[in-house]
Amino acid sequence: MEFSEVVKRRTSIRAFTEQPVDNAQIHELLALAARAPSGGNVQPWRIYVINDDAMTRFKAHVQAHPQPEPAEYAIYPENLKEPHRSARFEVGEMMYQLLNIPREDRKARLARLGENFQFFGAPAALFCFVDRQMGPPQWSDLGMFLQTFLLAATNAGLATCAQEAWATKPQTVAQFVQAPDELMLFCGVAIGHPEVQAPVNTLISNRFEVSEFTTFID
Ligand SMILES: Cc1cc2nc3c(=O)[nH]c(=O)nc-3n(C[C@H](O)[C@H](O)[C@H](O)COP(=O)(O)O)c2cc1C
Repeated sequence: MEFSEVVKRRTSIRAFTEQPVDNAQIHELLALAARAPSGGNVQPWRIYVINDDAMTRFKAHVQAHPQPEPAEYAIYPENLKEPHRSARFEVGEMMYQLLNIPREDRKARLARLGENFQFFGAPAALFCFVDRQMGPPQWSDLGMFLQTFLLAATNAGLATCAQEAWATKPQTVAQFVQAPDELMLFCGVAIGHPEVQAPVNTLISNRFEVSEFTTFID
């Protein structure tokens, strides 16, 4: 696949089939993702993979821990500024439209949000952690690792969805994967094959024009 095709083909998939994914393939994709650059080459990413039987046990573990937890970090800033606020609202509305869930149906929207905690049915997943010592530059490194992984997975014919929703269940996740306290959960990544019939998977989110986020200095 052409590089630009891989970039365009990667979209967030929110309905997966049960078709399994090999840990050997995930290992290969992680090795590629680890070629991502990081300031000082510190490589701050710390990854846990759950798959097969571990996924079954993890889902049972999540169901056994329904109580709310303090979030690991604020997922969005308070009073998110424009135009970011509208962009966020827009993609949410596009998604709920495809799912046929109107704005008034808060119960259905909440239930849909809960699908995050089933990895949207994906058979495999990553959890991305970073040491609490790390600051914004290393978090940015983690983002580069993450996008490289997502593109590598797309190139290999897999579907993914990064999920910061997991930052609202940090204790449940850390307990299951036995992550040490010094690690902080950034996000999960659902990995699998897309449910091709699912309308939600047809979502192509919008982007700002280059002129809206770039200034070429004369
Ligand atoms: C770090 C990160 C966390 C995300 N967390 C979630 C999430 O918890 N649940 C979800 O449905 N989508 C999540 N997304 C997907 C975004 O909503 C999506 O990337 C954005 O709307 C652009 O759409 P696209 O990925 O299809 O291009 C996340 C994406 C990133 C990069």
